[in-house]
Amino acid sequence: MTLPIQEHKYAVKTVIVPAAGMGTRFLPATKTVPKELLPVVDTPGIEMIAEEAASLGATRLAIITAPKKQGVMAHFDPYPELEETLSERGKEEQLAKVRRAPELIKAVAVEQERPLGLGHAVGLAEAVLDEDEDVVAVMLPDDLVLPTGAMEKMAEVRAQFGGSVLCAVEVPLEEVSNYGVFDIEECGEDHVKKVRGMVEKPDAEDAPSNFVATGRYLLDREIFDALRKIKPGKGGELQLTDAIELLIEDGHPVHILVHDGIRHDLGNPGGYIRACVDFGLKHPVYGKGLKHYITELLAESDS
Ligand code: G1P
Repeated sequence: MTLPIQEHKYAVKTVIVPAAGMGTRFLPATKTVPKELLPVVDTPGIEMIAEEAASLGATRLAIITAPKKQGVMAHFDPYPELEETLSERGKEEQLAKVRRAPELIKAVAVEQERPLGLGHAVGLAEAVLDEDEDVVAVMLPDDLVLPTGAMEKMAEVRAQFGGSVLCAVEVPLEEVSNYGVFDIEECGEDHVKKVRGMVEKPDAEDAPSNFVATGRYLLDREIFDALRKIKPGKGGELQLTDAIELLIEDGHPVHILVHDGIRHDLGNPGGYIRACVDFGLKHPVYGKGLKHYITELLAESDS
């Protein structure tokens, strides 16, 4: 049983988390360990997403998963044997850590049998939505958007302007070809822009701006109709970007919230290491020692 939509802060019940990718940039680790389970200090990326979804008031995480990635779902199952052992040994802190993921949110699996693209993955989640859901959130687990709270701000933008709202960051023009890029116009708010169009991974010279999509979407339910209409796009895949472009062409309002905090890309080793250092330095137990160690290392490499 799910709660009626009125009982959800921000009217978001379901967060879709595409997690079916092969993690090729992270091999060999991802040969058997799903990328979403790699820890930032001690917490898997997927649990950080679950925490963000729960604080948005969502109660369902629709995880798009591939046949060989069952470990991601297992992270949201109770583990009675381990819990019993930890409890018998009085390890309360560890017990709370084991129980945390399933307590945060109800995770449901949506299997994507073949890698047909982000648009295809998101489209599959329609099957688990309730009838009273008019808006759905998508969070890409590769992207950590910090400080958290961007989705809440996006929900406020939606309340003001209606339609769909995406999170954006500015990147140097030479990096735009890695992202969905926005064609934008001002709308009278500092951190909000109206989207005139969106294009997936254009060359720098064709890019309409250097404002790019960063893994957080608040989408009107109409997105599923648009996803049914699109044809394979960039890379031969069904692109979420193309469905959003279609919504805009149909006159549907789309805005971006420009995020001015940090964004970590957990999807490649370079971004992942940065996230580990960032969280490691802020960690109450490991932070001090890590700072000392890094300072020493840097001094050595300078001399
Ligand atoms: C996806 C989206 C892209 C977006 C990016 C953010 O690309 O297709 O529009 O800008 O996530 O991380 P991917 O990184 O999966 O290739």
